[in-house]
Amino acid sequence: MSFESQLSREFLRVVEEAGIAAARTMGQGDRKGSDRVAVEAMRKSMDSLPMRGTVVIGEGERDEAPMLYIGERVGRQGDGDIEVDIAVDPLEGTNLCATGSPGAIAVLAASNHGGLLHAPDCYMEKIIVGPAARGAVHLDASVKENLSAIAKRLNRAVKDLVVIVLDRPRHQQLVEDIRSAGARIRLISDGDLSAGVSAAVRRTNVHAVMGIGGAPEGVLTAAALRCLNGGMEGRLVPFKEGEEERKKFTERLRGMGIADPDRTYSERELAPGPDILFAATGVTDGNLLRGVRFFGHGSRTSSLVMALREHSIRFIDTVRLDGSQDAVVEF
Ligand code: FBP
Repeated sequence: MSFESQLSREFLRVVEEAGIAAARTMGQGDRKGSDRVAVEAMRKSMDSLPMRGTVVIGEGERDEAPMLYIGERVGRQGDGDIEVDIAVDPLEGTNLCATGSPGAIAVLAASNHGGLLHAPDCYMEKIIVGPAARGAVHLDASVKENLSAIAKRLNRAVKDLVVIVLDRPRHQQLVEDIRSAGARIRLISDGDLSAGVSAAVRRTNVHAVMGIGGAPEGVLTAAALRCLNGGMEGRLVPFKEGEEERKKFTERLRGMGIADPDRTYSERELAPGPDILFAATGVTDGNLLRGVRFFGHGSRTSSLVMALREHSIRFIDTVRLDGSQDAVVEF
């Protein structure tokens, strides 16, 4: 049995627990606190799982993260347990949760050993599209060329495309280029991971995501895209500009076995695993997932669990009751 079928229910529970914990803090204005409770909940629920897991993308290096740090062993670690690499983002969109804005999710991806790129904590330049435009866009092409290629594959005009871009000063030129090509833009304050997943799902009215966001989010997006047949190109970039930064960044990548810092990765190179599991739970309401709702004696969560080898995409609505005799479930 592949680990996809062994672990998909368990991973669903892990993201649900993290999502519920984070959602309890919604709107409290404490992004670090929201992240901390999501990390604690995710860590705790992973411990009992029948796996020998290693965090390959997590909350940072060991000295900067008490839990879910890169290299941390998670799961039961039993002799016969299956070995998996895990990428986690217990709360993607910490600000979104802290302000009660749409689009925060709890998310993880898992794969066979070596099945997810061990990306350092840096930025990634990304272009993300749905299945129709897979293979038609390239980071080295101009914005205009990429938008024309997407429009052609979707059989529509460029003016009918919607591109999501993180609202950041570094994207000023990108935004101008998209505007002058004629496409529509949705600027978002945070959360390019869920935006990327939306781009691969028809009728979300998202046709591409462009710009620079987190590299860990990029690898998690690639894992989702593999399951959804979406397309992506990504290139690692340092957090800061300047020659000195670039030098340090190049050395850091070399140390991690990445010889060419300018390499462009496809979704398949970012998440090459033959088995991939992707699981996410909505924390606040979003395009694809609803946020956690609490009622008198329980909670209701909306999640997405995808398995590559199984070709399964599950949208899961879970109601949890607290065991009280007075609990009532509403439709
Ligand atoms: P956090 O959940 O860690 O706050 O990240 C949110 C996010 O908006 C990501 O979706 C995105 O990839 C990244 O931050 C962009 O980074 P920056 O805020 O530095 O531009």
